[in-house]
Amino acid sequence: MDSFIIEGGSKICGSVKISGSKNSSLPILFSTVLTDERCVINNVPELMDIKTTYELLSYCGKTCFFGFNSFSVDEKNKIITEAPYDLVRKMRASVLIAGPMLARFKHVKFSMPGGCAIGVRPIDIHLDGFKKFGADVKLDAGYVILSAKKLKPAVISLKFPSVGATENIMMLASLVEGKSVIKNAAKEPEISDLACVLNKMGARVSGAGSNEIVVEGSEKLKGFEHNVIPDRIEAGTFLILTALCGGRLELLNVESRHIETLLKKLEKTGAILEVYDNRIVISSGKKILPSDIKTEPYPGYPTDLQAQWTSYMSVADGKSMVVENIFENRFMHVAELIRMGADIEIKHNTVIINGVKNLKGATVMASDLRAGAGLILAGARAQGITKVRRVYHIDRGYEKIELKLLAAGVKIKRIVDE
Ligand code: EPZ
Repeated sequence: MDSFIIEGGSKICGSVKISGSKNSSLPILFSTVLTDERCVINNVPELMDIKTTYELLSYCGKTCFFGFNSFSVDEKNKIITEAPYDLVRKMRASVLIAGPMLARFKHVKFSMPGGCAIGVRPIDIHLDGFKKFGADVKLDAGYVILSAKKLKPAVISLKFPSVGATENIMMLASLVEGKSVIKNAAKEPEISDLACVLNKMGARVSGAGSNEIVVEGSEKLKGFEHNVIPDRIEAGTFLILTALCGGRLELLNVESRHIETLLKKLEKTGAILEVYDNRIVISSGKKILPSDIKTEPYPGYPTDLQAQWTSYMSVADGKSMVVENIFENRFMHVAELIRMGADIEIKHNTVIINGVKNLKGATVMASDLRAGAGLILAGARAQGITKVRRVYHIDRGYEKIELKLLAAGVKIKRIVDE
């Protein structure tokens, strides 16, 4: 397993080009199952999760090519409508193959995704949605088996605006003739990016980005070419890094309107921002003013930037509060920050942070993707050397992360650990 060795205290400088969005690439790659025609997806980041998706689509019979951030999918073989345990256990988002596969083949057998460090991560909202379209749902030996003689359009009201369930149901509805409606839908930018692809394929999707999405399904869907939107979470991670460590950073290839809530929060802490449509320049403030966050569905503060914010506030000039409303166990980074000298108290889904002068380098362990990112930020700020272990978590979601950090002035190197 690899680790990162980080020597803290450097100022951030230079510029960084934001990669394509992991969380937009994944559903779009699975949407290729809806058609037998050639699909080309560009600006796809080179990540472990993309590699896992490549493996799963190939296992099911698709012919894939991925290079230079371009992912093409053709169909030359018979499709296997199954997603095996060994692949699904590596990536929960594999569940996004279910909607497209059920829609096109009226059958899919996939391993029930397990929980992960941040929570149980059930898929009941997905399955309830599939049932409303007329699918039969069976659970057998850890697998979910979906089948349907005929699928019919449906009006679905989600009990929670689940991102994955919204995406799965949108993809299913796109290949079911008639008008379907998804109420209380997730409004994340990744939903709108997927809707753009489904419209290119020949479905008629409207309302994406609002809480009510209407899908006019089509009997057959076409191939497409698409450029994935920039990764708003990577962009937010680099902005918080700069505000935390001090310095000035230019972000290129960013979609500023996707991170408005974070930008406002950063300004409240004293950071200075020059914001353009696709470029942001951030300069750190004279000191870090404390500012509370509570994570919410989009356009609220994103849960995927909560760990990074907690690291940031650990050296703020005062007391702040972080409330995690989306996942039940997303404070795994807090114990590691405390080992670095942070003064943080956990109370259920809330942490109270008393800012300290600085953190001290230590050996810490990444428990999940975004907790790992939060620990990298803490190590870049801390006095002395920090070793972040299990960086395979981080490799799932950040393309060439240590090269980008080095270019931004962080003293970091990757070592092969036992
Ligand atoms: C997506 O996960 C993202 N992943 C997550 O990013 C992100 O944290 C999350 O949305 C919230 O924004 C991808 O897009 C691949 P949800 P998803 O369904 O779709 C509960 C990262 O770091 N829920 O919106 O799984 C669930 O347990 C990852 O890039 C149900 O109860 O998130 C959670 O508490 C981490 N039943 C809440 O809803 C369901 O059927 C939000 O989950 C589905 C979800």
